[in-house]
Amino acid sequence: MSDLDLRAEKLDAADELAALRDRFTLDDGVYLDGNSLGALPAHVPDRVADVVRRQWGELRIRSWDESGWWTAPERIGDRIAPLVGAGPGQIVVGDSTSVNVFKALVAAVRMAGDGRDELLVDATTFPTDGYIAESAARLTGRTLRAVTPAEVPDALSERTAAVLLNHVDYRTGRLHDLPALTAEVHARGALAVWDLCHSAGALPVGLDEHGVDLAIGCTYKYLNGGPGSPAYLYVRGDLQDRFDSPLPGWNSHAEPFGMDPVYTPAPGALRGRVGTPDILSLLALEAALEVWDGVSVAAVRAKSLALTDFFLECVRAYTEPGRVECVTPERHAERGSQIALRCPDAGEVMKRLIARGVVGDFRRPDVLRFGFTPLYVGFRDAERAARVLGEELR
Ligand SMILES: Cc1ncc(COP(=O)(O)O)c(C=O)c1O
Repeated sequence: MSDLDLRAEKLDAADELAALRDRFTLDDGVYLDGNSLGALPAHVPDRVADVVRRQWGELRIRSWDESGWWTAPERIGDRIAPLVGAGPGQIVVGDSTSVNVFKALVAAVRMAGDGRDELLVDATTFPTDGYIAESAARLTGRTLRAVTPAEVPDALSERTAAVLLNHVDYRTGRLHDLPALTAEVHARGALAVWDLCHSAGALPVGLDEHGVDLAIGCTYKYLNGGPGSPAYLYVRGDLQDRFDSPLPGWNSHAEPFGMDPVYTPAPGALRGRVGTPDILSLLALEAALEVWDGVSVAAVRAKSLALTDFFLECVRAYTEPGRVECVTPERHAERGSQIALRCPDAGEVMKRLIARGVVGDFRRPDVLRFGFTPLYVGFRDAERAARVLGEELR
């Protein structure tokens, strides 16, 4: 056994989260793509079968009340809340991330008031956020400016209505300074909207602590909700009365069954709802979130950093110098839960890795992404992935 093999074995033996792996359905490969689609928690299929067979098949319409379908968006929001540092009553689950970006941005511009005519968006963002921000700006008569997170402080002015930022960059894995950037945005009187897709479930977010105004995130990555599972929207408690949704559907009406032709928004987080919730996906997500019972986000973060440190050490040991360039910051304060390596033939290299059971992904033009999901990835996985990568890069 090599030195790194032995170290991996010892690190796995000392890992307090290691037992959680058995709660997931995995094969004997190495799955490093949980930052794209989280693995399946093993109990979810039976729970979904119960929702379909009994709740839908037998109880039918009664399930809206008796199986808690109607209140699922807020209930599951409260289940996600502690994972992102939010108190109860501020998160609602439903619709896609893209739709929630739209709701949050338009509502933020409306809250900021007429005098503020500019919207800032992260220039390095996952494309959907940029597309939606462009449309939100056009619809609300604001100008959109794309700037990198580092440029945000200088770009802010009394014209800025809102700023849309990513907590962790989807391509490089860079973690942005949410507390400092939120404080800068607030100092100029604007609203901070954060996309948490690549941070929720991987590291502490601290939404309440840092006074974030609005946030959105998906649930199919580190929260393991399943393909296309619904996203969530956070509206800080003291802003909820001013949250003026651009999609005021009947589910967010104060009296949804009053069938009133005039819209009166409901109080609280459920103002973020739109139409009939996606019950099958929602309840699969609710079941998936049970794996978090008793798990601290701080422990997940500590393991994530140890895993990514160890993976980088193994990549350096197994790969010729200069063959790949790491684009994820070395500094822990700037690192999310993935390692992104650049090499010219990244697309072909990833195909070969996947054929050998090491599943990461490729992002154009030249990035190999390896996501580390501490609930089910271990140190031996990290060592094996780096070893196979080193062999394929030779
Ligand atoms: C940062 C970020 N925002 C948004 C999305 C996707 O949005 P949606 O859930 O609407 O597909 C992704 C998907 O990977 C993402 O990484």
